[in-house]
Amino acid sequence: MGRLDGKVALITGGARGMGKSHVRHFVAEGARVVFGDVLDDRGEHVASKLGEQSCRYVHHDVTSETDWAAAVAATVEAFGRLDVLVNNAGVLKFARIADMTLADFRRILEVNAVGCWLGMKAVTEPMTAAGGGSIVNISSIEGFTGAAGLYGSVCGTVSARALCATAWMRLIRASDSGRVEIRLPSRSLRAASRRRSPW
Ligand SMILES: NC(=O)c1ccc[n+]([C@@H]2O[C@H](COP(=O)([O-])OP(=O)(O)OC[C@H]3O[C@@H](n4cnc5c(N)ncnc54)[C@H](O)[C@@H]3O)[C@@H](O)[C@H]2O)c1
Repeated sequence: MGRLDGKVALITGGARGMGKSHVRHFVAEGARVVFGDVLDDRGEHVASKLGEQSCRYVHHDVTSETDWAAAVAATVEAFGRLDVLVNNAGVLKFARIADMTLADFRRILEVNAVGCWLGMKAVTEPMTAAGGGSIVNISSIEGFTGAAGLYGSVCGTVSARALCATAWMRLIRASDSGRVEIRLPSRSLRAASRRRSPW
């Protein structure tokens, strides 16, 4: 018996890296998963290895409100409900402030912070209808410690954490069954997640 038997999850940025690992481990624990990404070939490949009984891939740019509506609808249509959202998609850019363009900084905030907010907004209705749910926002330990050359990404990740705290307060008031949490991976997890992945 898996720890996620009967649960239905939507995971963003699941075509590679930690997101792919989340998808594989959710399915291994019994969840049915819809995951999205902008890397369609990789996403389709990951889904094909897991089988459509438990896993579907959708093209999903987290900065697009239209894509969010389509991904949530695809999840409910495929598996009947939505219990878990993992806001994992993120972008990283190493640059000193002086060297980073405004366009790059805005892009990081758009994916890492606005994408996260759009996701929390998009799942409110189906999770409320289901009587509760869990939202997991992947942030970074570097939001606490700071990191040289990662100014933009640290700002994005701090925003994701702030969004989490605000949403937690709102959900706690609205329902006893809602849960919003934050995960703070450190860079060492990157190597670990890739080592465990056979494909
Ligand atoms: N790996 C680490 O050591 C580490 C440490 C701290 C935090 N994180 C966070 O964990 C998450 C995953 O990191 P990772 O190392 O696996 O990164 P990664 O770059 O390997 O994977 C990120 C995924 O997000 C996707 N993505 C990017 N922009 C997108 C968009 N607009 N819409 C949908 N998908 C999009 C990418 O295509 C990719 O598949 C990120 O949010 C990152 O900030 C990772």
